[in-house]
Amino acid sequence: MIWPVPSKRSFSLTKPLLFAGLCLFLGGCRPEPPKLTSDPKQNFYLQHVGPVLKENCYRCHAGMNRKGGFRMDSRSTLLAGGKDGIAVVPGDPEKSRILHVVRRENAWGKPMPPDGPLTEGEIAAIEQWIREGAVMPEAERR
Ligand code: HEC
Repeated sequence: MIWPVPSKRSFSLTKPLLFAGLCLFLGGCRPEPPKLTSDPKQNFYLQHVGPVLKENCYRCHAGMNRKGGFRMDSRSTLLAGGKDGIAVVPGDPEKSRILHVVRRENAWGKPMPPDGPLTEGEIAAIEQWIREGAVMPEAERR
């Protein structure tokens, strides 16, 4: 039996080119670093909170998706919360439903995200962000 031997050339070029093409197609292999501002509190959201919410929550709570009547892609909807009322009280993490549901405290609602917990670091970032006033851009870029 004779095995077809692929030419070296096709191996050395085709794969990297395909891979590069796929990366371009997917809009880049790495997420774009957030564009920072002159406000450290705004930057804390852009670097440590926004990416966590986008990655773990937006598919159910942004744009057309409003599970529980709750949208998180603008500051006003994020503060307003959903069918169970206010989600974020700036300056007061312990009154903020969003923090309790990510801590998976059932008394405050269904645990979020439903399919598994955020890391402790991510939860701590959300807590600090609320304590410092929940500063974020009014309309979030998706
Ligand atoms: C797979 C979909 C899904 C994901 C992902 C998800 N949620 Fe939810 N969320 C829901 C559903 C469904 C409800 C309504 C639950 C209920 O019936 O009370 C809800 C409700 C909520 C509420 C309460 C709204 C209200 O007033 O009733 C908060 C706060 C919340 N989610 C925060 C989050 C946060 C923060 C994340 C990310 C860390 C997240 N969710 C990720 C599906 C999701």
